[in-house]
Amino acid sequence: MNMMECISTRRNIKSFKSDPIARETVVELLRLASFAPNHRMTEPWEIYFLGPETREKLAHKTNFGGAPIVLAIACTPAKTQIDRDEHYAAVACFIQNLMLAAWEKGIGTGWSSIAAGERARQIIGIPEGYEVVGVIPMGIPAELPQVKERQPIENKLHDRP
Ligand SMILES: Cc1cc2nc3c(=O)[nH]c(=O)nc-3n(C[C@H](O)[C@H](O)[C@H](O)COP(=O)(O)O)c2cc1C
Repeated sequence: MNMMECISTRRNIKSFKSDPIARETVVELLRLASFAPNHRMTEPWEIYFLGPETREKLAHKTNFGGAPIVLAIACTPAKTQIDRDEHYAAVACFIQNLMLAAWEKGIGTGWSSIAAGERARQIIGIPEGYEVVGVIPMGIPAELPQVKERQPIENKLHDRP
């Protein structure tokens, strides 16, 4: 799959097959994700592999689509608002890289911010000051959602002198 195809066919996956994904495969994907742009090489991401006990505590009405792997991805504490925003942006780039690298191997991902946030930080046992940016279930998709069409990008273009 080339990059154009990978970007345009990735979907937010809600249900997964139970086929296991090897931890080494996930670690390799995370290694690739770490080539994400980040300010001053801060690499402000921390990754938590969630086992069944933590998942159960975290999930309200979801079992994360039955995904064999669920990751929580957090950004490191910051002293200033600008640092916090840049950390968050870099972690979002990291997650996007992860999703695309996974999809290139036929592994689907979802992004849950509902399961993220301060409550998740406490349940997972992540130190104070860290922020959970996304909880990411990962596995072979059981079904592929339809593409959600985007507005014409021309609607978003603005010229300035
Ligand atoms: C910051 C962020 C938070 C998100 N949170 C959720 C979420 O809590 N639940 C969910 O179902 N999808 C969540 N998504 C995924 C979006 O719903 C999804 O990307 C969007 O509907 C477009 O679908 P697509 O990714 O398949 O193109 C989130 C995406 C981002 C970037």
